[in-house]
Amino acid sequence: MSELIAPIFFQVNGKATAIQANLGNRLSETLRDELGLTGTKIGCHAGDCGACTVLINGEQACACIVPVGQVVGCTIMTVEGLANDDLGAALQKAFVDVGAAQCGICTPGMLMAARDLLGKTLLITEQAVADALGGVLCRCTGYRLIIQAVLEAASRLRGAAPTSVPVAFDRLGSPVGARVNRFDAAAKVSGAEKFGADFVPSDCLELRILRSPFAHAKFTVNRAAVADFLKDNGLVTIISADDIPSNAFAIFADMRDQPALAQGEVRLLGEAVLALVGSKQAIDAIDPLEAIKKLFQFEPLPAQLSMDESLSADASVVQSKFADNVLCRGRVAKNWPLDANTNPKSGLTLSANMTTQHVEHAYIEPEAGYAVWSNTDKLLTIFACTQTPYMDRDELANMFALAPTQVRIIPSAVGGGFGGKLDLSLQPIIAAAAIKTGRAVRCVFHRPESMLSTTKRHPARMSATIALDALGNIASYKFEGDFNTGPYASWGPTVANRVPIHACGPYRVPHVLAQTRAVLTHNSIGGAFRGFGVPQSTLINERLMDEAAAALGKDALDFRFEQAIRAGDTTATGQVLSASVGLRPCLAALKPAWLLAKHSVDDFNKQAVANASALRRGVGVASMWYGIGNTVIANPSTMRVGLKPNGRVMLYNGAVDIGQGTYTIMPQICSQGLGLGLEHFDQIRADTHLTLDAGKSSASRQTFVSGNAARLAGEALREKLLAVVGVTQNSAQLVLNGNVLSAGDKRIDLSTLAIDDHGDVAFGEGYFNPPTIALDADGQGVPYATYGFAAQFCELEVDLGLGTVKLIAIHAAHDVGRAINPTQVEGQIHGGIAQGIGLALMEDYRAGKTDNLHDYLIPTIGDVPPITCHLIEDHEPLGPYGAKGVGEPALVATAPAILNAIAYATGVRMDCVPVTPDRLYAAIHGANYREQALEQNRM
Ligand code: FES
Repeated sequence: MSELIAPIFFQVNGKATAIQANLGNRLSETLRDELGLTGTKIGCHAGDCGACTVLINGEQACACIVPVGQVVGCTIMTVEGLANDDLGAALQKAFVDVGAAQCGICTPGMLMAARDLLGKTLLITEQAVADALGGVLCRCTGYRLIIQAVLEAASRLRGAAPTSVPVAFDRLGSPVGARVNRFDAAAKVSGAEKFGADFVPSDCLELRILRSPFAHAKFTVNRAAVADFLKDNGLVTIISADDIPSNAFAIFADMRDQPALAQGEVRLLGEAVLALVGSKQAIDAIDPLEAIKKLFQFEPLPAQLSMDESLSADASVVQSKFADNVLCRGRVAKNWPLDANTNPKSGLTLSANMTTQHVEHAYIEPEAGYAVWSNTDKLLTIFACTQTPYMDRDELANMFALAPTQVRIIPSAVGGGFGGKLDLSLQPIIAAAAIKTGRAVRCVFHRPESMLSTTKRHPARMSATIALDALGNIASYKFEGDFNTGPYASWGPTVANRVPIHACGPYRVPHVLAQTRAVLTHNSIGGAFRGFGVPQSTLINERLMDEAAAALGKDALDFRFEQAIRAGDTTATGQVLSASVGLRPCLAALKPAWLLAKHSVDDFNKQAVANASALRRGVGVASMWYGIGNTVIANPSTMRVGLKPNGRVMLYNGAVDIGQGTYTIMPQICSQGLGLGLEHFDQIRADTHLTLDAGKSSASRQTFVSGNAARLAGEALREKLLAVVGVTQNSAQLVLNGNVLSAGDKRIDLSTLAIDDHGDVAFGEGYFNPPTIALDADGQGVPYATYGFAAQFCELEVDLGLGTVKLIAIHAAHDVGRAINPTQVEGQIHGGIAQGIGLALMEDYRAGKTDNLHDYLIPTIGDVPPITCHLIEDHEPLGPYGAKGVGEPALVATAPAILNAIAYATGVRMDCVPVTPDRLYAAIHGANYREQALEQNRM
């Protein structure tokens, strides 16, 4: 590659800057690599995601597609420059106050696009904000709070009083329940937060993974060519499967089946086969396709991409252990089979079939991190984005024959996860390279690589039948579902087991049979994605609930209210729900707006018919429930909190924050338990050498499980401190004043006390493992200690002539037990709804075809309508101060509500998602619409 190195002069954040650079380099890389301005984030290198947005002469631009040669003499502003700029500082403050940043990887880009807008005018509308920020993608927030933050900043700059001011304590003086700003908000709006790609150790090598161009093939490495290839390309070494002593990992230790680097056979497109290691310059110069041609011989084999292919009589075996290509099965049977005595005279039976697609997590931060091996300490250190540091530690220890204590996982800030960063990705490969070379080794996935190689939401093929008794109550529900799990186990067992538990929905159903299979194929690996299969099964369940209501002539919301499960009822697994069953309050909270929306929609449609308009409006409602935490298996968290001699409280918080707010709500809960205010708190974020095991940030478990551990840790420390001060009264108020701790008339100078290994004068630890009972062969037992409940409804407009859907509003009511931080809870609901919109209307991952953010469509700022949230606090006795969880429940009801609204508007029940315009048009106008369209074109 030819290079044109030249001196470049420009102004960056108000400073005259001169560098020598290749004029063709990306501006984003120059800012990050040459100037250390890592606040400019990289999500795609293609101008699709907007994370790298900066201002060039006051106008927003994606720095990843601007050659640095084009900005000679220009004025550049990055996120690091905002604090010294009135408009920028106002935006940063408003983003913090409103809660507009979650994971924060998109935040610099959002802020810069907003700064562009406010630089032109402070008289802005919501539409103006949406237009200005339309080029920046966010996968976490659902955009509504970002819009609100920009409007708030403009309003404040025009002289108005702030309308969103965080409240440090609620009216009862409690940190729990307060809209506390995120502890990490300042770092996210300043660009200081370090994500996986934002730190480069000194003397660091770069690593690039070579990946299979075939979905199924045998292969051999051309060993004779390796030495020449390394020499010709100035590389240091290659990493193959031979460099990993035990080359298999999994989520479940008894199912380790996935190689970090394939050995002789690849089972999916993009599977890692070899890694090249060298200087960044040498690695960047490699053409992966040329490298594969030189270093491999592939023998392509037939690939079974669909479940039909894998289940056919002549299918080949994807994994030799599973002769029928079924990885595992799930089953829940309650009062089944039906017989003459148990089968009530049915008034009505309704059935449906449905299919769903692969859905990509599309977090804006591609996988990134580095590994260091210390031969002196025999310690492997990994700094990378992850949702599960302790599981990473244990799997890596197993793979490299190390003790778990010889592996240290330091999670970077995580730029979105949603389940996709639970599985190992680059970690074992950079670990092998670091051990082999004795040097730090870093890897940053490219966007297509991230999308091609990581897990996806399982595509489902489902059928279900609902029977109603003569009184119009649900008599039975039968569900069968196959889930395309790809070639390796990953989270397939969890999906197969979680779905049958939830399949009949949060309703009173006396007879249930729900059966699932996770089917092995050569397609993308089915993994964890916000809901573990429940969003798929809820689609068909809520469709049948809607059809049943219509058949009975009942209002869709009223019918759900009548049938809703409530405290004292028994679930499909035989679990008696004794408390915190808040579906009916959720539905009740929605009802006034639901009735208004129905009237408005009906009026609109009457007018539309009268005017021969092609527009129709619809409303659709859906309910959901979701077991909080891992399904049946042990699910513990441990937390520690200590008091330093200087009077600072230190929370050792191992609950990884992937944007959902655990680095804020754990201190809130612990503060409540300890009885000392948040202003005294510092925290050490997750690090397997510094914090205890708080489990995975998945399954909506952190608030409930780790929150309880944080509460117990706070309470334990409080007890010790009262004893240290010499007070026996348990209700005494602790007071910290510098290094003096007092309670009542007793006081003690903390600096006079001995410290432990952590430097604490006293500490408390909390451990919580939710009580569950293993399921029997019929799926009977107690799979979860508690459940989240929700109902959402959607109002939308369909253009019958185009098949397009425009969302007008979404109303959501969620029973979260207790909202520890209402701003964070609402943020989760908004973000889940946005992902539900994507599932319903646009997202459709195809391996090798949509591995980028311009072919794979996720909702943009213009796709998410206004959202109204109702927080229902049906106290959970087992929860920390009554709290449950909301991360996954936020998404589950959205897509079925949208599909039910489409049916209301059009009369058409869609049996697959996404409901793209072509599919909806075909469903409305019949199978021959293509011919009709062609005919019209010919006329
Ligand atoms: Fe926008 Fe995470 S906060 S991508």
